[in-house]
Amino acid sequence: MKALNRLYSLSASSLRFHGKFFTASPARDASGMSLALPSCGTGTSTARPGRGPPRPWVRIHSPAVPTPVCIIGGTGALGFGLALRLGQAGTEVVIGSRDAGRAQEAAKRARDLVPDGSFTGLHNSEATPGAEIAILSVPFRSQSETLTNLKGALREGQLLLDTTVPLAAAVGGKATRTLGVWQGSAAQQAQEMVPDGVRVVSALHTVSASLLTELGHQLDEDVLVCGDRREDKARVAELVQRIPGLRTVDCGRLEMARIVEQLTPLLISINIRHKTRAGIKVTGLSGETGFGTVDRERPPAHP
Ligand SMILES: NC(=O)c1ccc[n+]([C@@H]2O[C@H](COP(=O)([O-])OP(=O)(O)OC[C@H]3O[C@@H](n4cnc5c(N)ncnc54)[C@H](OP(=O)(O)O)[C@@H]3O)[C@@H](O)[C@H]2O)c1
Repeated sequence: MKALNRLYSLSASSLRFHGKFFTASPARDASGMSLALPSCGTGTSTARPGRGPPRPWVRIHSPAVPTPVCIIGGTGALGFGLALRLGQAGTEVVIGSRDAGRAQEAAKRARDLVPDGSFTGLHNSEATPGAEIAILSVPFRSQSETLTNLKGALREGQLLLDTTVPLAAAVGGKATRTLGVWQGSAAQQAQEMVPDGVRVVSALHTVSASLLTELGHQLDEDVLVCGDRREDKARVAELVQRIPGLRTVDCGRLEMARIVEQLTPLLISINIRHKTRAGIKVTGLSGETGFGTVDRERPPAHP
């Protein structure tokens, strides 16, 4: 897994979407993919060339995320990096592990690196019930086992923020390939496995664990968020955007995770070739956050 994490994390350029093309560049650009959203308030969107009249938009009021946040697999590369950044941003973090001692050791390491942060280490099953948002950060090969083990710990109303990428490396294959998941994506598999009333939001697949852990590094990239309810995505956005330099972009329903999860092997392939730690930036969004407004045209399937 260490070798895999190096592939996830070889610089700091970012991938911008330019219409149909992908180019690697460190800078943001005002043009590009036609995803323009107005930046504030209820109103009317700007014209969308060739796509009919403007649609109505509405601002999401994202409620503050009640703390603490728990990170299942928080001892690992991505989970620990997220713990550090969220702790630095003033969020109370519970680091979860299959082994309480390992969790406590990770919490101590986090406190050493971020002395002002609040970190606790607990067994996954004890870390999970107290959190409104539980971040799932384990390898794909252990995603279903972890969720099976946590069936009694997850409770109705909780959000599970799934970061899992079904990399072929999980079964000894290449990190630049993915495995087919019957449900369509790892996130949809998670949604099928969690107890009733627990909702899954998918995000953070394109953020490098090593850049998160390198606290001196100024992050500057987008986080693509998929989920079936606007309110859930807004809560996740509020949490993620506590980390300076991360902007969330609403990518649509949970089923879109099948596309977003495929971007990770693409970034790994870029990292290998360019000796970098690539991320994603979506151009053409007019909002400061990329999440301030959402399309109201189609009601959510699970209101
Ligand atoms: N690394 C990145 O840059 C990155 C970026 C975006 C997305 N992701 C995705 O995020 C997820 C976590 O990635 P990672 O690199 O942080 O993984 P990792 O470091 O290999 O593992 C994370 C944690 O998962 C737990 N774990 C490992 N094997 C397990 C098993 N067989 N059963 C149950 N738990 C197990 C371990 O915690 P305990 O042993 O303490 O329980 C481990 O510390 C993956 O799905 C990955 O594709 C990673």
